[in-house]
Amino acid sequence: MSSIVLFGPPGAGKGTQAERITDQTGLPQISTGDMLRAAVKAGTETGSLAKTYMDAGQLVPDEVIIDLIKERITHPDAKDGVMFDGFPRTIPQAEALATITEVSHVIAIEVPDERIVERICGRYSCAGCGSVFHDTFNPVAAEGCDCGEWQEKRRADDNEGTVMSRLNAYHEQTSPLAEWYESAGIFHRIDGDRAIDDITGDILAALQ
Ligand code: AP5
Repeated sequence: MSSIVLFGPPGAGKGTQAERITDQTGLPQISTGDMLRAAVKAGTETGSLAKTYMDAGQLVPDEVIIDLIKERITHPDAKDGVMFDGFPRTIPQAEALATITEVSHVIAIEVPDERIVERICGRYSCAGCGSVFHDTFNPVAAEGCDCGEWQEKRRADDNEGTVMSRLNAYHEQTSPLAEWYESAGIFHRIDGDRAIDDITGDILAALQ
């Protein structure tokens, strides 16, 4: 079993690309952000703990995240590998991942900080299927999402107040992982400040 990691700052386009790569590779997407939001919505103990950190734009403690991943990776759909979206984000998470599954490619979607705020503050998604859109860069069609269950949803942490904290967490705790994976020879840098289709093409090429 061999897995892929989608790596990058908040709003880089990891979720947008994950949806497309899943269609092409069949690998299931495992997004720790989505799992945490589901736990918050379900009102679980993990959810209420995570919410404090998420609302502040800080990383949720490693042990919470690692437990979530260890459980998720046991599901039958994960047996042939998965695509991690937003995990790992710290060295301890990467160390734990190395004991759980083999990682064949780390795809780093690179976007300058000054583009991140406009991306995050204009984001919305379909509550029906989870597809991600943007007010300016990637608007939903006039008739709504093609899943047929269109309902606009915006994230509680998508505001200018938390973006800077999330970016700081990325630079301080997550970006050091680039060196970790570069030395393993599996790190691919992709310019994420371009058209969505062009980025998808480069990611698929890197995966071959
Ligand atoms: P999470 O949900 O993972 O958020 P994030 O990493 O901050 O990433 P985002 O989902 O915000 O962005 P994205 O890269 O997926 O971009 P998207 O495709 O949506 O985490 C949320 C919180 O949970 C964290 O802050 C933390 O508290 C906690 N957490 C999660 N995982 C954790 C972990 N492993 N450890 C500890 N804590 C954890 O795109 C953004 C927007 O841009 C969209 O509107 C999209 O339409 C648009 N867009 C995409 N591509 C382009 C393009 N090429 N050009 C123009 N617009 C584009």
